Amino acid sequence: MAYQLATDAPEMTRLATQASALAPDAAILFDRIGVGPGWSCLDLGCGLGEVTRLLAKRVGPAGRVCGLDLEPRFLRHAEAMAPPATSYLQADALRSGLPADSFDLVHGRLLTGAASSPEALLAEALRLARPGGHVALQESDPGFTACYPGHPAHMRLKALLGRGLNESGHGAFARRLFGIFRDAGLREVGFRPFVVGCQADEPMAHWLPDTVQSLRGTILRAGWTTAEALDATLAECRAHLADPGTTQILYVMVQVWGRKP
Ligand SMILES: C[S@@+](CC[C@H](N)C(=O)[O-])C[C@H]1O[C@@H](n2cnc3c(N)ncnc32)[C@H](O)[C@@H]1O
Repeated sequence: MAYQLATDAPEMTRLATQASALAPDAAILFDRIGVGPGWSCLDLGCGLGEVTRLLAKRVGPAGRVCGLDLEPRFLRHAEAMAPPATSYLQADALRSGLPADSFDLVHGRLLTGAASSPEALLAEALRLARPGGHVALQESDPGFTACYPGHPAHMRLKALLGRGLNESGHGAFARRLFGIFRDAGLREVGFRPFVVGCQADEPMAHWLPDTVQSLRGTILRAGWTTAEALDATLAECRAHLADPGTTQILYVMVQVWGRKP
């Protein structure tokens, strides 16, 4: 399935802002798994390579890290900032073509929905991990998106986000991940959900309008609203989110990890 979000400069800024906000929790995940010096890691759907670089720092010069993504524009950006012992590959995460049993850790964040079948993604991740190696996926559940005080423009954008992400396959994958890992036979399966939220002056404050803006092509092609109505709603929502009195829950992020038998 095609990636439904844009791949333009604003989307790259959105991804980078989001990755910075999520970095402390990525560190917690890698601590729980025990990622350390000398590990070989694969970051599926690496985007701009933010997690790939976090992993490279952890594994150090004795380790190796590979970032894989379909989108050449993202990969060019990642490659320009690549630390030593890091490589990047343009490929489909569902059919990577990489040899089996190769990695101590296979990780993917916010890719499950984009890759359209979490079972197929996990099957490929499992194939690539070495026996006893680790697989970890992180996916967002946008069902919790809310702002306080509430606002009709925010509700309209939340509805468009839900439709847009469902169209691109995200659905309720975050809620199903733990069961999918267990059904696939992984051992020591871990589950860690956390809430991503912010105040008006924080970098993620415009996450909802920015994400809907990135889904603009999908939304307009589907005819769910007109360009004029979408622009007006985006502007109204941005004004509300910029009010210092507004707070938000953006989504619940779910981290699931386990070991290949
Ligand atoms: C929302 S971004 C997340 C990027 C990064 N993992 C992060 O958390 O910052 C999803 C990424 O998955 C990539 N992607 C989507 N479908 C893919 C597929 N089938 N194979 C490889 N990459 C894919 C997109 O190009 C995009 O870079």
